[in-house]
Amino acid sequence: MGFLYLLTSGAVAAGLVAKVTGDTIGASVGADGVTDIFGNHFGQPGVNATYDYIVIGGGNAGNTIAARLALDPAGYSVAVVEAGSFYEILNGNRTQVPGYNYIGALSSFVGDKPASLTAFGLKTEPQAGYNDREIVYVAGQTFGGGTAANYMGYFRPSSGAHDHWAEFVQDEFWTWDNVYSYYKKSVNFVPPDYTKIDPSLNITYDPSSNDPNGGPLHISYGNYQGEYGPYLDASLKKLGFTPLPGLNSGKMMGYGTATGTVDPRTATRDSSETSFLQFAAQNSDIKIYPDTLAKKILFDGEKKATGVLVQGNFATAQFNYELKASREVIVSAGVWHSPQLLMVSGIGPASTLNAHDIEVVADLPGVGQNERDQPFMALTYKVNVTTNTQIVAGNPEANAEAVAQYLNHQSGPLSGIGAGQSVAFEKIPAPYRNKYSNTTMQYLSAFPSDWPEVEYLPLESSAFPPDIGPNDNYMYIGGAMLSPASKGNMTISSADMMDPPIISPNWLLEPGDLEQSIAAFHRIRDIAFNSTIVEAEYLPGPNVTTDEEIAEWLKENMSLIYHGGSTCRMGPKSDPETVVDSRARVIGVKGLRVVDASAFPFVPPGQPMSVVYMFAEKIADAVLKDL
Ligand SMILES: Cc1cc2nc3c(=O)[nH]c(=O)nc-3n(C[C@H](O)[C@H](O)[C@H](O)COP(=O)(O)OP(=O)(O)OC[C@H]3O[C@@H](n4cnc5c(N)ncnc54)[C@H](O)[C@@H]3O)c2cc1C
Ligand SMILES: *[C@@H]1O[C@H](CO)[C@@H](O)[C@H](O)[C@H]1NC(C)=O
Ligand SMILES: *[C@@H]1O[C@H](CO)[C@@H](O)[C@H](O)[C@H]1NC(C)=O
Ligand SMILES: *[C@@H]1O[C@H](CO)[C@@H](O)[C@H](O)[C@H]1NC(C)=O
Ligand SMILES: *[C@@H]1O[C@H](CO)[C@@H](O)[C@H](O)[C@H]1NC(C)=O
Ligand SMILES: *[C@@H]1O[C@H](CO)[C@@H](O)[C@H](O)[C@H]1NC(C)=O
Ligand SMILES: *[C@@H]1O[C@H](CO)[C@@H](O)[C@H](O)[C@H]1NC(C)=O
Ligand SMILES: *[C@@H]1O[C@H](CO)[C@@H](O)[C@H](O)[C@H]1NC(C)=O
Ligand SMILES: *[C@@H]1O[C@H](CO)[C@@H](O)[C@H](O)[C@H]1NC(C)=O
Ligand SMILES: *[C@@H]1O[C@H](CO)[C@@H](O)[C@H](O)[C@H]1NC(C)=O
Repeated sequence: MGFLYLLTSGAVAAGLVAKVTGDTIGASVGADGVTDIFGNHFGQPGVNATYDYIVIGGGNAGNTIAARLALDPAGYSVAVVEAGSFYEILNGNRTQVPGYNYIGALSSFVGDKPASLTAFGLKTEPQAGYNDREIVYVAGQTFGGGTAANYMGYFRPSSGAHDHWAEFVQDEFWTWDNVYSYYKKSVNFVPPDYTKIDPSLNITYDPSSNDPNGGPLHISYGNYQGEYGPYLDASLKKLGFTPLPGLNSGKMMGYGTATGTVDPRTATRDSSETSFLQFAAQNSDIKIYPDTLAKKILFDGEKKATGVLVQGNFATAQFNYELKASREVIVSAGVWHSPQLLMVSGIGPASTLNAHDIEVVADLPGVGQNERDQPFMALTYKVNVTTNTQIVAGNPEANAEAVAQYLNHQSGPLSGIGAGQSVAFEKIPAPYRNKYSNTTMQYLSAFPSDWPEVEYLPLESSAFPPDIGPNDNYMYIGGAMLSPASKGNMTISSADMMDPPIISPNWLLEPGDLEQSIAAFHRIRDIAFNSTIVEAEYLPGPNVTTDEEIAEWLKENMSLIYHGGSTCRMGPKSDPETVVDSRARVIGVKGLRVVDASAFPFVPPGQPMSVVYMFAEKIADAVLKDL
């Protein structure tokens, strides 16, 4: 019986879930004659309660660490407080079907604000580096968090980036050799199913990057790979990129085929909720508090975190109550909300706290500072291979065929993530590098030799012209900047978690970041036009040619890839901007950790989801073994 049964009593909601799991709706009597009804893993709303551990935020990190703590043989009581609910219920197949990932979190807008039941639609301050544009910054507000909002690409950083992490925080705990097994621990790798994927694609991967006993999260290739892959691979090879056996072994320089967080049995999204939270519910006493907003962390006279004040997170029923933690409070509310919660609870820059009449528990000037991010560009190409364009454009025949393949055979374009092939990484080569200023050269020289500066990311679900024909195909080739110098920040607008934080990623604010982006733009064109599938560049098109025109287009058109981190930065205790020590414990207080992307010392190159899972696994072990 699926875990969602435990959680949903409404027939409508259960119906949606039942369709996916194949379970019957309501109570049933099994072949053994035993009546099968719903268990109950809900905490009781409005009732004060005490747990050993309270995890705030049931997102990527939160469900992972909560599950590991609850599953420990010691039998600790664990509660997860989550602002949102279940995306399967609120967002239906838009979030579950991998091929719909481009609308999963941003399904519609009212004006320029996202109208989503599963995501916070934060908006940045006007970004000077982006010609003062204000950009919507999606953050999942649902069990699963980012893993329920994202594009599902799962790949790991370079080994040198991890050694750099260990060096920065002065703790061997974070070297590649000491984290690699924790990357493997979370995931169950499913090899390509060549009854569904074109066997001539012959996907290369490194079996040793997976632990056969890993899990509960599935990674796979979906059951579909795009037609474009071999052609872009050929172009990358021609340009001198090295082929890699996948992107999960600690090597990034070159190109390869990435895995995605798709459970290939059902061809549905595997999130931290469908994997870790469900597994914990089936095997432990974990309690969850959906639609519940953490308002304030509570401290005793010794500055030990004793619990959290929470509030029902819906307009019709807001009531406050208290959840006490006898062991620890773990904050996993994500890049923007973890620092916000610390600040409203009295941990942050004293001047900010004073300005909002918040009593100072620990004056930590680094809270909300040092945000690292990856500015992103997407160039659009008309291609002569089939991509997802006709599905995105709403072509009825293309959609009917894709839905039938998906529902009847768990195959076809909707069973894949529309990305993952021909993902490439490099440090910008000559001749483009020769144009860099000395300041930029100097800045980049501090990075490890295996830390790429750009990620090239082909995406099948792209923009297309309004007058598109029924057989036309387009795709993006994106570029994510992995070594920008700009640092973002956030602060609070009030002492209340109900008010959104004020966020400013400061993309392209440092002039060197624009230099790097111009070079990446040229490299995308090289990759595109050295392939045999590109017929024409649609956006920005041939009129944007000189470096001045490219710079202007980038400032007007660059966007984001939602990879922010480090707003509660891990660091050495000697650094005044350090927020958490190398075991994620908040400086200046007791019994409180921050475990999510906000606690990274920096955002490692590539995609952060794998890093968040590993991070939660590592800290769970630190908590349980008192490391
Ligand atoms: C649209 C999008 C696409 C992306 N694509 C990819 C990709 O393809 N590959 C990849 O590796 N990464 C991708 N990412 C990034 C990746 O998903 C995130 O970096 C990662 O999941 C963040 O994990 P986290 O645990 O730090 O935070 P989250 O997963 O965001 O978890 C935070 C949780 O805290 C909850 N919360 C917040 N405030 C409160 C409160 N006050 N009380 C209670 N609960 C609260 C939230 O509802 C949420 O569930 C993408 C992100 C987005 C948004
Ligand atoms: C698949 O690729 C590997 C190398 O990555 C090669 O050894 C093997 O022969 C290929 N198989 C097929 C069927 O092409
Ligand atoms: C529950 O917690 C709230 C908020 O901290 C407090 O005001 C209230 O007295 C508590 N109720 C009980 C029954 O202890
Ligand atoms: C998703 O739901 C919509 C609305 O019911 C439907 O049109 C579409 O076919 C569904 N897609 C799949 C893959 O089930
Ligand atoms: C930049 O560096 C080069 C080589 O190190 C040096 O010759 C040149 O003078 C420097 N330019 C400036 C403006 O500092
Ligand atoms: C964030 O950065 C911007 C740009 O440097 C700056 O103007 C702003 O004051 C900063 N805000 C905070 C809270 O640090
Ligand atoms: C192919 O890439 C090279 C860079 O290696 C570039 O000089 C050339 O212009 C590209 N070819 C085309 C047709 O764009
Ligand atoms: C796509 O077009 C190019 C020319 O632009 C041609 O060389 C190539 O063979 C075409 N490929 C396919 C799959 O039609
Ligand atoms: C490109 O510039 C030319 C000349 O200025 C203009 O006629 C044309 O419309 C422009 N094309 C696009 C796509 O903007
Ligand atoms: C890019 O910016 C230009 C203005 O320079 C704007 O007209 C255009 O709509 C933007 N294009 C995209 C794809 O955002």
